[in-house]
Amino acid sequence: MEIMGRGLRQIISESPLYFHIGLKYAGYKFFNRKSPLYGSADIINVCNLHCEHCYWWLNRKENEDLTLEQWKKIIDEKFKKQHVFIITLVGGEPMLRPDVVELFVKEFPKRICVVTNGTFPIPSLKDIYFYWISIDGTEEIHNEIRGQDAWAKTRKNVIDYVENNGEKAWKDIWITMTINSRNYMTVRNVIEDWQDYSNKIGFQFHTPFMKGDPLWLPFGEKRTKLVDEIIAMKQEYGDYIINPNSQLELMKKSWGGKDIVPVDCPTWAILSVDHMGREKMPCCIGSAEKNSLKPRCEECGLGCYSVLVGYGIKGSGIISH
Ligand SMILES: C[S@@+](CC[C@H](N)C(=O)[O-])C[C@H]1O[C@@H](n2cnc3c(N)ncnc32)[C@H](O)[C@@H]1O
Ligand code: SF4
Ligand code: SF4
Repeated sequence: MEIMGRGLRQIISESPLYFHIGLKYAGYKFFNRKSPLYGSADIINVCNLHCEHCYWWLNRKENEDLTLEQWKKIIDEKFKKQHVFIITLVGGEPMLRPDVVELFVKEFPKRICVVTNGTFPIPSLKDIYFYWISIDGTEEIHNEIRGQDAWAKTRKNVIDYVENNGEKAWKDIWITMTINSRNYMTVRNVIEDWQDYSNKIGFQFHTPFMKGDPLWLPFGEKRTKLVDEIIAMKQEYGDYIINPNSQLELMKKSWGGKDIVPVDCPTWAILSVDHMGREKMPCCIGSAEKNSLKPRCEECGLGCYSVLVGYGIKGSGIISH
């Protein structure tokens, strides 16, 4: 038996953690007490790519990255203190700081996901939860967005990882696709290209930082049809597609907030820190800097928060289905 890539033995050994999460959920539901369930950390302020859709470049400032000792302090004083369950490592490109990745995995065995562009060899870490590999379309479209040869490098690194790390290595590879106006017609191609080398795929939609961003796939007929197609593909591809229908339905329309202000979005549920360990606002794609560019909540397509709303965990309260 496996639930979201976690085996029965693991689930049993993690029961104290579930107890904490259960308490947090109850505290929120009955007393409106908001304590983060998940974490995210930009462990590096550098990236080897300059993808066309990327929010990270929009608010990038030239400042130092943290040392390993400084990250250990953030781990203890923020993530451990607040008993977050799963932590996602992001960047920039997190594989450029393998020392920090290893530290997090050691401190949170089977609870760390690393989001990576996959252009560097993927290390085998015994206690990693999984790697999210970002894929943005067919080879041609992915390269248009991420740069020449990006797809081939990622392809090779994923296949090398799967072929060289035992028969279960494919379980460590999950694909994440950010759907936009350029790649929306390639969803099925991405599934077909990667299904043999990965455990799951998750979809989210491009979130703009300015009105009229041409990469944003507008609400309306085209977007609704695509979401319905993904829901239908879940029959075809079994549990390979991880998005619950409740979340996919939200993606047809505005669900998070108004203009640049989160309303229903449960921003409190994910403790997000930047490369300096400072808390980001309003969410993991925001910034800790005061005069930063803000994401457009009204057109948000982020997966990590919408999945919570889909399950009834909302900014202002819990709704029952
Ligand atoms: C900022 S990247 C950092 C990790 C790594 N460099 C990578 O590309 O996977 C994290 C994820 O955010 C996605 N992303 C970037 N800009 C986005 C945007 N404006 N809206 C939604 N997702 C976005 C990327 O496609 C990637 O999957
Ligand atoms: S590789 Fe990741 S962080 Fe770097 S530009 Fe692309 S999406 Fe952004
Ligand atoms: S995830 Fe961020 S951009 Fe999206 S609605 Fe929430 S706060 Fe706004």
